Amino acid sequence: MSAYNIAFQYATPHGVLTTVHIPDSPDPVPERVLATLPSEEAEFARTLRAYRQVSFVGGRIALRHAAAQLGVDPPPILPDDRGAPVLPAAISGSISHKRTMAVGMVGQARNGTLGVDLEDYAPARLSIAASVLTPEEIAVVEALPEARRWIALLTRFSIKESVYKAIDPYVHRYVGFQEAHVEPDLEGGAEVTLRLERQEKQEGPFRVDARYRWLHGQLLTSVRIRPA
Ligand SMILES: CC(C)(COP(=O)(O)OP(=O)(O)OC[C@H]1O[C@@H](n2cnc3c(N)ncnc32)[C@H](O)[C@@H]1OP(=O)(O)O)[C@@H](O)C(=O)NCCC(=O)NCCS
Repeated sequence: MSAYNIAFQYATPHGVLTTVHIPDSPDPVPERVLATLPSEEAEFARTLRAYRQVSFVGGRIALRHAAAQLGVDPPPILPDDRGAPVLPAAISGSISHKRTMAVGMVGQARNGTLGVDLEDYAPARLSIAASVLTPEEIAVVEALPEARRWIALLTRFSIKESVYKAIDPYVHRYVGFQEAHVEPDLEGGAEVTLRLERQEKQEGPFRVDARYRWLHGQLLTSVRIRPA
């Protein structure tokens, strides 16, 4: 495993996914790594500290490699005022990072916006259920055998985080966990029903396509959203 190098990449139904190893350390990102980014992006990274700098750079490297697979070399990828990575109009993309891994996913913008999320499988944190699930989702999860509850919760939670990232370009606001109902299937997909609090304010309707996949010790989800 080599820090800031590609771990693996593959094509998904939502876009190209690239994963990058990042060090589990607050040490500054080496200058030779920063030098691989466009200067304005590297300059922004230099303003960040410790783990935040590490994850920012890992995410940018991942997103850039994914974009390259679509023949796009993006100009500096800076955050917008809501924290989302700004990409050229022809592509959409999303970033997530955990302790030792950063992921970037990029697809054609004409197919919709993207959200990606990476979660560690362990430790189980069943106590988050009340804050991230709807009452109906809680009922479904609680009806499962105990050993399956955490996975069922984590899958729903991660898909919601992906929804948040994919819907942001349309709504430009905080979307709460009660605003989506997620029902994963057994084949790596999920039905997502949006219950947007501001539906009367011309938000939506949207078509949401969600996927999940188990990696080594981690769950990766992605969501693509298009106007219905
Ligand atoms: C914003 C949020 C989804 C990020 O998730 P996280 O698990 O904390 O962190 P991740 O590593 O997965 O993702 C971080 C990346 O998200 C992206 N991001 C941040 N804000 C974003 C936004 N408003 N829109 C799209 N992408 C955004 C950025 O690329 C960021 O990485 P970077 O700063 O290095 O570029 C999360 O912090 C949050 O606020 N969640 C609550 C809201 C929610 O999920 N609601 C559910 C709606 S159904």
